[in-house]
Amino acid sequence: MSEQLIIALSKGRIFKETLPLLAHAGIEPLEEPESSRKLILDTNHDDIKLIIVRASDVPTYVQYGGADLGVTGKDVLMEHGGEGVYEPLDLKIACCKLMVAGPKDQPEPSRRLRIATKFVNSTKRYYAEQGKQVDIIKLYGSMELAPLVGMADRIVDVVDTGNTLRANGLEPLEHIAEISSRLIVNKASMKTKNRRIQALIKDFSEAVQNA
Ligand code: ATP
Ligand code: PRP
Repeated sequence: MSEQLIIALSKGRIFKETLPLLAHAGIEPLEEPESSRKLILDTNHDDIKLIIVRASDVPTYVQYGGADLGVTGKDVLMEHGGEGVYEPLDLKIACCKLMVAGPKDQPEPSRRLRIATKFVNSTKRYYAEQGKQVDIIKLYGSMELAPLVGMADRIVDVVDTGNTLRANGLEPLEHIAEISSRLIVNKASMKTKNRRIQALIKDFSEAVQNA
């Protein structure tokens, strides 16, 4: 029996956009995460399983060897720090920008800026690089609401079309980073399962180039 290969994905956007890359590598899930409650999905290969975890948990599963490989947004990876994982490939899917946004036409207050975000580490790093002291309020989602209820002056969030910002009277102010999803690999797996993992990287990389 050959060794198992476990790939960590998250439901929704990442799962959908990774499907064509998996297909190019000849891997097809036998179940859909949206219609199944199962967290370990079988594929057409007995020795390849997909695990479905929270988007922000993908790097952690790969770091600690719960999965050999994973697909995760660069925003999530920057926040995690990338310890214990290799990042061999930019998959060029789920593209967006990490940005500072705020209410339209609102000048900076004279006190410290209050920033609401789920990206606490990236936000700290961004303002530290500018030598600016800010207060960060950690949220887990719907950051756009915080300025509307007077809880924060700015948010740091991912922006694609800008529709969510506009719908809430906010505008993009500063660009922090270009974001796309990355293939990540557990460092030990890269050694022990090198041949199979390299083959998968090659297949994914061809699929990205043909996309
Ligand atoms: P969690 O479940 O941990 O809250 P999430 O809701 O942010 O995570 P998704 O919305 O599935 O998870 O986003 C997964 C990744 O897709 C993000 O990490 C980001 O890189 C990218 N992304 C997020 N929003 C968009 C968007 N509107 N357009 C394109 N890519 C996006
Ligand atoms: C993401 C993100 C923003 C929005 C930006 O939310 O949190 O709110 O997309 O995209 P836009 O600029 O095209 O409007 P998503 O739609 O993934 O929902 P979520 O809050 O459940 O992650």
